[in-house]
Amino acid sequence: MRDKKIIIGNWKMAPKNIRDAKATFQNIRSIASKLQNVQTVIAAPYVYLSELKKLETGHRCVVGAQDVSFESDDPHTGEVSADMLKSIGVQHVIVGHSERRAKGETNEDVSKKVIAAAKKGLIVVVCVGELERDEEGEYTLYIKEQVMQSLADIPKKYLGQIIVAYEPVWAIGVKAKREATPEDVLEMRIFLRKVLIDMFGDRKGAAVPVLYGGSVNQKNAFAYIHGCEMQGLLVGRASLKPAVFEKILTLANGS
Ligand code: 13P
Repeated sequence: MRDKKIIIGNWKMAPKNIRDAKATFQNIRSIASKLQNVQTVIAAPYVYLSELKKLETGHRCVVGAQDVSFESDDPHTGEVSADMLKSIGVQHVIVGHSERRAKGETNEDVSKKVIAAAKKGLIVVVCVGELERDEEGEYTLYIKEQVMQSLADIPKKYLGQIIVAYEPVWAIGVKAKREATPEDVLEMRIFLRKVLIDMFGDRKGAAVPVLYGGSVNQKNAFAYIHGCEMQGLLVGRASLKPAVFEKILTLANGS
């Protein structure tokens, strides 16, 4: 599975209703299920997961979650545990997205979520990304700290379930300052690889997949994924437009 590109659609708080969610998933699935070199994961809102799971037709296009609690039981109104996700067959979960961090989620929370989800056998997509870029390169220190703290205390035996997604906050969403250039992304891929190797050693640190996310579209996807040697992409808005997402998936597939 790991030599495949991993393309994750983060639907955030969309589509507006289950009917549109099903239709969009089915459209994407019809394309994604034909692609041999790509695994597609649609990270949908919790309320849609069970229904969308029923529409899966194989492993090439699956449903994932956008968050998970680090608690396992007891009273936590509004939270969803890793066991609950597993019980409906969800295997992938995003953790530490910048939009959750903006609501107060700390690196420590992220680390607890990563460990809780990995222990239950989930594949965890851990998001990191600086808020701003500065001329002095302070952002690299920020990212290093974020990675080290977000993956703190994770037992090495779970590293095979970890994916890191680099999502610079300044390049995300309709309010993005600008698109990240391939040079921005390549620089950070090299840097992240060094941080991961320093943390986990040559072999294990080199094996953690690194994805890019932030205003990915059909025009820039090829450069990010092939030019920057990213193992995949985390796609927001464009993953809700099947025709655009199809182009991204096809480019990632290499056909
Ligand atoms: P956009 O692709 O809409 O910029 O969102 C990126 C993102 O946050 C994916 O997780």
